[in-house]
Amino acid sequence: MPNLLHIDCSIRPAESVTRQLTALFAECWRTENPGGDHTYRDLGRSPIPHIDEASVMAALLPPHERTEAQRQAWTRSEPLITELRAADTIVIGVPMYNYSIPSTLKAWLDRVTIAEHMVDDSRTKSGVLEGKHVLVVTARGGAYGPGTPRAEYDFQEPYLRAALGQIGLATHLHLVHAEMTLAYSIPHLSQFSNIADASRSAAEDHVRRLATARS
Ligand SMILES: Cc1cc2nc3c(=O)[nH]c(=O)nc-3n(C[C@H](O)[C@H](O)[C@H](O)COP(=O)(O)O)c2cc1C
Repeated sequence: MPNLLHIDCSIRPAESVTRQLTALFAECWRTENPGGDHTYRDLGRSPIPHIDEASVMAALLPPHERTEAQRQAWTRSEPLITELRAADTIVIGVPMYNYSIPSTLKAWLDRVTIAEHMVDDSRTKSGVLEGKHVLVVTARGGAYGPGTPRAEYDFQEPYLRAALGQIGLATHLHLVHAEMTLAYSIPHLSQFSNIADASRSAAEDHVRRLATARS
């Protein structure tokens, strides 16, 4: 049965562009996959604890060798790992915060990036999570495309390609960006609202196409 893992991490509950775009993807996906499972995880409203030593050790040890603290720590990582493994399609909404990703998403990545998931670079060149289709939808207050003054400040896309790639989630990875979103809320940027509108509209079209193409 098709299984969608849908993750948001914007701190904005209502006006969030990434939440609206991931919701659009999920809506199209559900229409195309009426019997499919849709798992939703909201890291913005319900942040998960940052990684700690007990969590790292728990991931390396068999269950019967874990201390009580490590068993407790594992209860915070295991549901995330189970959700990730069960999904064949993953959509992640990622606001740009300080040129990179929200710390709540970093906490999720730290918990699902375990030894068992790492791509074996030396021998098989593959990993157990490979084959999943991943869509990352970002929203940025400014613009970071090629040729823009801030192009080199985009630490979001290169980071996500590397971090998802090391656990085998970049073989079918698409990134879609909605840019200049601050044109709607900062008066002196309102002159760029036509760029924001065009970027948002292109992102919506792309998201719809990807949701349909996956079915
Ligand atoms: C804490 C914080 C940091 C931000 N840092 C940046 C940034 O470095 N570059 C940028 O272009 N926009 C930045 N923004 C603006 C957001 O990327 C923009 O509002 C985006 O639309 C947020 O995603 P959302 O609409 O899903 O909430 C920042 C916003 C916040 C709240």
